[in-house]
Amino acid sequence: MRVLGISGSLRRGSHNTSLLRAAATALPPAASLDLYRGLAEIPPYSEDAEALEEPAAAARLKQALRAADAVLFATPEYNHSIPGQLKNAIDWVSRPVAGNPLAGKPVAVVGASTGTFGAVWAQADLRRVLGALRARVVDRELPVPYAAEAFAADGSLRDRETAAELAALLADLAAEASAAELTPAAA
Ligand code: FNR
Repeated sequence: MRVLGISGSLRRGSHNTSLLRAAATALPPAASLDLYRGLAEIPPYSEDAEALEEPAAAARLKQALRAADAVLFATPEYNHSIPGQLKNAIDWVSRPVAGNPLAGKPVAVVGASTGTFGAVWAQADLRRVLGALRARVVDRELPVPYAAEAFAADGSLRDRETAAELAALLADLAAEASAAELTPAAA
């Protein structure tokens, strides 16, 4: 199973990108995770821009999504919701509706924040948006609160319970990817 990991943070020292790196070491056997690195290059969505020519960065994201068996999003929370640039990228992916590469795609959402709640509202909002795009959304969350202290020097999650929950979420994502192979959804 090839998993595409998308961090909703553009920050160099992003805790959400760290969370994806931790996920890469906790995948079931025979699964691998590639980090998507092009989020900052995606221009602002507008229907005018869409009517001209698809931006290369948006086309690259769509291609990466098509090539993946599953997608793992790690989202920060900005003002209790999804960071704008991540939502903007998803808006590009959603158009045109007929070619939306997230339709039928197994996806899961995790999130880290420096506060108490671990980006739970952003994760809930992102799952809702991904549902609108008809993705196969794993019905789990993984809040990582106090993210500045959450990772050990080797990149692993310090809290054993959180690490076990991450492994369980990834197992569910793998199961969803296997189920999607048997019952592919029409894009
Ligand atoms: C935040 N942060 C934040 N945290 C939270 O738990 N709930 C929130 O609503 C917000 N709102 C918010 C808005 C903006 C504009 C910023 C820049 C930050 C804090 C956020 O969790 C923290 O900066 C994380 O470290 C961001 O994730 P990355 O960049 O480390 O992955």
